[in-house]
Amino acid sequence: MDYLKAQSVDSLKGTINISGAKNASLPLIAMTILAKNSVNIKNLPHVADIRTLLKLLTNLGAKVDFLDEKVVVDTKPLHETKATYDIVKTMRASILVLGPILARFGHCEVSLPGGCAIGQRPIDLHLKALEQMGAQIEIKAGYIEARAPKGLQGCNIIFDKITVTGTANIVMAAALANGKTTITNAAREPEVVQLCEVLNESGVTIDGIGTAVLTVHGTAGELINIPEFSIIPDRIEAGTYLCAGAITKSKITLTNVEPKHLGAVLAKLEEMGSSFTLTEDSITIHPAKKIKPVKIITQEYPAFPTDMQAQFMALATQADGVSIIEERLFENRFMHVSELQRMGADITLNAHTATVNGKTKLSGTDVMATDLRASSALVLAALVANGETNIHRIYHLDRGYDALEKKLGGVGADIQRLSE
Ligand code: UD1
Repeated sequence: MDYLKAQSVDSLKGTINISGAKNASLPLIAMTILAKNSVNIKNLPHVADIRTLLKLLTNLGAKVDFLDEKVVVDTKPLHETKATYDIVKTMRASILVLGPILARFGHCEVSLPGGCAIGQRPIDLHLKALEQMGAQIEIKAGYIEARAPKGLQGCNIIFDKITVTGTANIVMAAALANGKTTITNAAREPEVVQLCEVLNESGVTIDGIGTAVLTVHGTAGELINIPEFSIIPDRIEAGTYLCAGAITKSKITLTNVEPKHLGAVLAKLEEMGSSFTLTEDSITIHPAKKIKPVKIITQEYPAFPTDMQAQFMALATQADGVSIIEERLFENRFMHVSELQRMGADITLNAHTATVNGKTKLSGTDVMATDLRASSALVLAALVANGETNIHRIYHLDRGYDALEKKLGGVGADIQRLSE
């Protein structure tokens, strides 16, 4: 098993190129199940979750070719409709194949995803919406069995809660349904927007893209022709490297980034004392003289993302004063707290709220990554901790960060990947 050995650093300097967004890539790869052509996808990030989903598709019979600049996915030969436990257990987002497989074949089985480090993460809203579209759903021996022999029917769906993969799943199911489906309280994340835009370019009319009410005009079972597209930049990877600049009080530039997707993150970093120079596709962070404390509430886009909560907690340990961080989306997303405490952070937890007393001197030690974003928070803390930090279980990190140690190494960090 790999781990990272990181030394503290005085400051970082240089440019980091941002990869394609993992969370945009996953639904867009699942969407290829709806295609009658081979689909060219550019700017896919090199991360484990993408390999996992492509493997799931090849297991089902699809053909995947890796060319220089793009991945070509041909789902015409896809014939299996069962996503088995061995893959789904490694990545919950495998549930994204449920909507498109059911829409195309009229039946689908997906293993129930099971537990998750950051909370319960139920999928009841996905299933309820598919039932409203006419699917018969049974849970048998750990599997979701869904059937819609006459095809899915357009209807009005009102999500009780905003769900990102739930919205993506239903948009894909609705794309091939009979008639029109209206989804109210839809997720507005840029990753959902890109899915809708690519479907629109593929001939599926979708009204209300980027709003909380989406109307999808289904093709009544006809497969679609999907043109080549390029994945949007990863706003969470970008936000993580902005935190690396902020915590080390460094000037670094991010390229291939979409500043307008980072509104809430930039606003909080500004409150904490950083400033920025923006172009259409780059962000330069200028160091704060003094890092100021902050109040953060995680919420759905366009508010502050839960996927940046752990990284801001690492940054708050270096702020002069008391920061309050409230997690509203996932009940157990504070596993990084005990690891940061082991490095010397002064954090108290009360239900969904963390109080971070800064500034504390952090010390390098052995710590354990507990989930994807928690892992990157530990890397950020390691950049300013005295001495050496060994971050174990980085398979969590590899799920979603493309070459993190190389990218940070490129701007002056001393991080090595070693084997236990
Ligand atoms: C996606 C992102 C993840 C991010 C999260 C919230 C992907 C692949 N993952 O996860 O990185 O942290 O959005 O921005 O895009 N819920 C239910 N029932 C459901 C579905 C969700 O109760 O059927 C609840 C969840 O427990 C959670 C909230 O709704 O409290 C939001 O979850 P959701 O948006 O579905 O998260 P994911 O799509 O799994």
